[in-house]
Amino acid sequence: MAKPQIQETNETPEGAKSSYDKWVETEGIPVIRTFFIEDIRTVHLEPWERKGGNGAFLQMEGAGQVNNCYMCEIAPGKSLKPQRQLFEETIYVISGSGATTVWNHENQKQTFEWQSGSLFSPPLNTWHQLYNGSGSEPARYLAVTTAPTMINLLHNLDFIFHNDFAFNDRFDARQGYFNGEGTLFSGDFKGFKFAGNVWETNFVPDARGFKLMAYNERGAGGSNIKFELSENTTACHISEFPVGTYKKAHRHGAGAHVIVLGGEGYSLIWPDGAPIKKYQWHEGSMVVPPENWWHQHFNAGNRPARYLALRAFGSKKYQGVSKRYQGAVDRKKGGAQIEYGDEELIVRQWFQEALAKRGVESQMAKHYEKSA
Ligand SMILES: [Fe+2]
Repeated sequence: MAKPQIQETNETPEGAKSSYDKWVETEGIPVIRTFFIEDIRTVHLEPWERKGGNGAFLQMEGAGQVNNCYMCEIAPGKSLKPQRQLFEETIYVISGSGATTVWNHENQKQTFEWQSGSLFSPPLNTWHQLYNGSGSEPARYLAVTTAPTMINLLHNLDFIFHNDFAFNDRFDARQGYFNGEGTLFSGDFKGFKFAGNVWETNFVPDARGFKLMAYNERGAGGSNIKFELSENTTACHISEFPVGTYKKAHRHGAGAHVIVLGGEGYSLIWPDGAPIKKYQWHEGSMVVPPENWWHQHFNAGNRPARYLALRAFGSKKYQGVSKRYQGAVDRKKGGAQIEYGDEELIVRQWFQEALAKRGVESQMAKHYEKSA
């Protein structure tokens, strides 16, 4: 008897819209539905009444209805309107400089400054207001939020946007909350010990220059750092891999918004049994691998390649929301990673061709040996 086939999907039936989709339509800004953005620095934005700046939603196919992404630009010398909302939001500053004020109570306001490359998250449901610090240049940022999960679950916009509850366990209004200091977080979940590369902080001054730690499990001399920001349930990380190398393929849940911070190369992305898609990237490119699709990142340039991944959930501190994938364990051992020795030969051939075009030498021989 044939095995029953079950197809899982996050898509809503033809013609049906989720509560989140309906809310997006009422925001009155462009909605870009795509798989890949070549350059977030040049995406066209339009006036956004609720925020008081210019904006657009980047509705990435690989995000499903788990998390979303939007961009916002603050005009020179201007500020956005104060906001608060019952979903988590992680902000990456693309260009410009400015400041953010955060408060639960008027008398406990605190302000911190940011610049291009900064990363932070206004704690859940705190009031926050962003200011452009320049009188001549716009300030542009990108944010990934859990709005789809929260709006679809509660489907009550009043509760999401006009809720007085103060999460004092997330934001205690202590001075220095956003001073950029941090500590290495270590933990244990059902016997699974974390590597020491989780940095707990509430402000990263410059993700492009942040010092990373060795991360050999994902191959080829790579390094990374994972962040726990503002007691969030969502997480993010920075990953870097050397010239002449590429990472092992792996897969996981939806919503990891991969933003290239530096270098150039390409990613291969494919679901089981389907043709491989190839996306060329450089600083400012963004791609989101859909749930359970294999993906693999290649440095084809002549400097280290670095990206920031703003993810859905995945906090090491607050676990249990999302399915756990063992993204750094061999798939032959039940994990979700393809070892170098098991990859298709065409993968190596494409990499050789890409390097040859730029006159860069492959550094992969020693990594193939280790992985054999
Ligand atoms: Fe990934």
